This record gives sequence, structure tokens and C-alpha cells, in this order.
Amino acid sequence: MSEALQKAWKALEAQPRTWLVTGCAGFIGSNLLEALLQHGQNVVGLDNFATGHQHNLDSVQQNVGPENWARFRFIEGDIRHPETCQQVCKGVDYVLHQAALGSVPRSLNDPLTTNEVNISGALNMMVAARDAGVKGYVYAASSSTYGDHPGLPKVEDTIGKPLSPYAVTKYVNELYADVFNRAYGFSSVGLRYFNVFGRRQDPNGAYAAVIPRWIATMVAGDVVTINGDGETSRDFCYIDNVIQANILAALAEGEARAQVYNVAVSGRTTLNELFGYLKAELKANGVDYTLDAVHGDFRPGDVRHSQADISKAGRLLGYAPAFTIQQGLAQAMPWYLRFLG
Ligand SMILES: NC(=O)c1ccc[n+]([C@@H]2O[C@H](COP(=O)([O-])OP(=O)(O)OC[C@H]3O[C@@H](n4cnc5c(N)ncnc54)[C@H](O)[C@@H]3O)[C@@H](O)[C@H]2O)c1
Repeated sequence: MSEALQKAWKALEAQPRTWLVTGCAGFIGSNLLEALLQHGQNVVGLDNFATGHQHNLDSVQQNVGPENWARFRFIEGDIRHPETCQQVCKGVDYVLHQAALGSVPRSLNDPLTTNEVNISGALNMMVAARDAGVKGYVYAASSSTYGDHPGLPKVEDTIGKPLSPYAVTKYVNELYADVFNRAYGFSSVGLRYFNVFGRRQDPNGAYAAVIPRWIATMVAGDVVTINGDGETSRDFCYIDNVIQANILAALAEGEARAQVYNVAVSGRTTLNELFGYLKAELKANGVDYTLDAVHGDFRPGDVRHSQADISKAGRLLGYAPAFTIQQGLAQAMPWYLRFLG
């Protein structure tokens, strides 16, 4: 655990706070919920189960035990309803806004719903949090905001044109955050996540992310299709790094607030390399997968290369990722084998 995170948890354990996690039945939200409950915090959770699952909440309940679970209050509801957002923000100190419709292809197929949830929903949340006078507001931004800018590594203040409706929505969140700071003095922190992975990331459905999708395909003994030539690269970030960034961002003070930060490892892994890592990790867990991958078409809307400069988050938040992609895969694989088994 990073030094800054250790310090943050110690302060929070000494004086527990009330947190709102939107999207708490999803991958990242349920992991934030679990970490907060494990560290003695009170949590309100909001989700409409659009892409989240009751089984994620059940798994948190099992992991944290009855005493910690008693400090959680779940509200099933939709961020597209302003009254729901007002209701869940009541009495809350910190907001971790994760609810959104993820996936570039989903946004290309259904830009209207993606817009309603990711822009109007996010705006409802920000208005409600402002009116409730919360102490800290963190929202899930995205590396897709770098769009067509070719520069590597990606530095926060140099972005290109968005390549998908999803990327537009995530950028608009940042624009609103900036305007809320200027116009109302409501400062928030945006975390541009780069390809997060780990336990509870959904392996099923048309819009599953690459790591859980490939693990499920490989465990089923089927052939993996790599989109394009496989030299597309990503800065894969293990979930525990993302938890760290959220806690540090929520507690940020002064200059560290009203900012947007890259949240990644600053590594660069091609899809071809990823396939090899997954094979090796399966083998380490007793699963011998010997099939070769096949190559399909490139996916529209996809950024070609992605790698983050994470020095800003290091400097202003004390963020120091504790897991590389391979360390993260070693943690995640046993969970997937149990989940898929
Ligand atoms: N996973 C990644 O690699 C990644 C990368 C960049 C950004 N993000 C962002 O991080 C956040 C969390 O993503 P995730 O990977 O956990 O996805 P996820 O789909 O597992 O979680 C999103 C959660 O939000 C809920 N939700 C969706 N629409 C809602 C609505 N209208 N009202 C209430 N709840 C709603 C879903 O039911 C789900 O539980 C999202 O904002 C996403 O855009 C994720």
C-alpha cells in the first residue's frame, strides 16, 4: 500500500465519514464499496443494475462480514432522475461517482442512452452534490478523452478529438466540472482511468472489456479473436490502483482539487502481449490453454496506443500504483477461475 493511502485510511478510520458510491453494483463501484466498508466507513450506494449485478453486492457482503455490511445503505435508482440524486446526496461527505454506461461500441450503437446517462445523469449528480455541500467529489473520467492525439505518454492537458460518443460524454463531464468550479466554486476531481481490470469486472455480454472477455473465452477452451493486428497497446491498470486514486482524490486539498488526473501504471502492453500474459497466468493456475489467437478487424472508435504519464497524480495526490499489469493479473486470475468455474 502506498504511504499516502496508508495515511488516508488511518485518518478515515479515526474519524469515519459517509460516502456515496454511484454505480456500486458495477465493477469499480463494488470494489470501492468493499474497500470503504473494510476501513470502517459508512456508505450509501446507488445503482439501477443497467450493467451492474446483485451478485457483486452479495460478494461484497460476504467479504466484509455482517458488522461492516451494516454500515451500507443501498438505494436502487437512476442518476437520470434529479430527485434520486438529491436523495442519495443527503448527509454525504464524499461522493465517488462511477455510474455510467461504459464501452465505446455501446456508445456507437446507442449514442442517445449513453448521452442521457453519462452527461445528463452526471450533471444531475454534480448539481445534487453541490446543493448538498459535500466535502469532496470524485468522478470517473476516461483515457478515451485523449481521442486522436498521437502523443505518448498522455499528459493531462494535451488531448485530441474524441473518437466515439462515449469519449464525448466523458470529456463533457470534465467541462462541466471545470465550469462548476469557476461558476459555483464547487471543486471536484476527475480520474481518467486507463483500461481498469480485476475481480468482478463482467466477463459476459457484447460489451465486455478485453481482459475478462478473453479469460472467459480461454477458460471455455474457445479461440480468442484479437481486433486488428494485435499491436494496439494499452496501459492496463489493476483495480487496487484505482481504489487508491479515488481515496486520495476524495481527500485532496488546495491545489490538488479541481483537477483531472491520469490513473494508470504508465506501462504499455500490446494485445498480443496481453494474450501471452493471460496464457502464462492460466498455466500458473493449472489451466493449459494451447490455442493460438486469430485476428479480426480493427474496432471502430478505438484509440491505437494508450500510455499514461502519471506524474501529476504522483505529485499532487501522492498516487503510486502498487500493481503492474502482471501483478494485477496474478491477483485477478484465481478470482476469475472461481467465478467462471
Ligand atoms: N473499466 C474501465 O476500464 C474504465 C475506464 C475508463 C472509465 N471508466 C468509467 O468508470 C466507471 C465505472 O465503470 P465500470 O468498469 O465499473 O463499469 P460497470 O458497468 O461495471 O459499472 C457501472 C455501474 O453503473 C451503473 N449504472 C449505469 N447506468 C446507471 C444509471 N442510469 N443510474 C444508476 N446506475 C447506473 C451500472 O448498473 C453499473 O453497476 C464508469 O463511469 C466508466 O465510464 C471505466
